[in-house]
Amino acid sequence: MSDDVRRIARGLKRYAEGLRAIEVRRVPRHRQASPPLPRAPAGGAKRDALAALVKQVEACQACSLYRTRTHAVVSDGDPDAKLVFIGEAPGRDEDLQGKPFVGAAGQLLTKMIEAMGFARQGVYICNVLKDRPPGNRLPEPDEIEACLPFLEQQLAIVQPKVICLLGSVAAKAILGPHVAITKVRGQVWDYHGTPVVPTFHPAYLLRNPPAKKFAWVDLKKVKQLLEDRG
Ligand code: URA
Repeated sequence: MSDDVRRIARGLKRYAEGLRAIEVRRVPRHRQASPPLPRAPAGGAKRDALAALVKQVEACQACSLYRTRTHAVVSDGDPDAKLVFIGEAPGRDEDLQGKPFVGAAGQLLTKMIEAMGFARQGVYICNVLKDRPPGNRLPEPDEIEACLPFLEQQLAIVQPKVICLLGSVAAKAILGPHVAITKVRGQVWDYHGTPVVPTFHPAYLLRNPPAKKFAWVDLKKVKQLLEDRG
């Protein structure tokens, strides 16, 4: 065995040990990387890159949702955040205000963030879809496909330490269409080297309050991962 092969084998072993240490179950194959945006290391540059992304979203006609929206809804919070929450799609309140998670589910999400010891404005919040599906219907697969490059760009710009997926649509969009939120919630997955924890969507928790205790376990895991990653 050459020195190069030995070095690569040692690297892979360390990588596998690292994954085991943070309880990563499986490294999914990801789709093609999103259209390249310059990686933005500093806060100001991140803001500029995100402002450019907002313009792209506002101009996007890749699916029909732009026809019925009031506002495109891109994000809320801190572009330098260590923690990103990803929801499903804007609802009525979000469409009217142009901000994610401002309705009833958003109020619960804010409480969940505060219960973790953070401020809502200290994390970064976004959705899989940037435009509201009429009548709050579930996003169609082609809408998710069309919008996903924007989310991938957001994650490449913000570069959080941990990602928390809220609900089934976000879990399937990031981890793969085969996953079931009831099975994968609370597990640590991988997104291009960043740990990802799926949990229940706050709207589901409003309908099923007994599930809040499971979400809390998941959020504690998110917090632990953040602490572990400094
Ligand atoms: N539900 C979501 O998934 N996202 C929002 O922004 C609001 C409600």
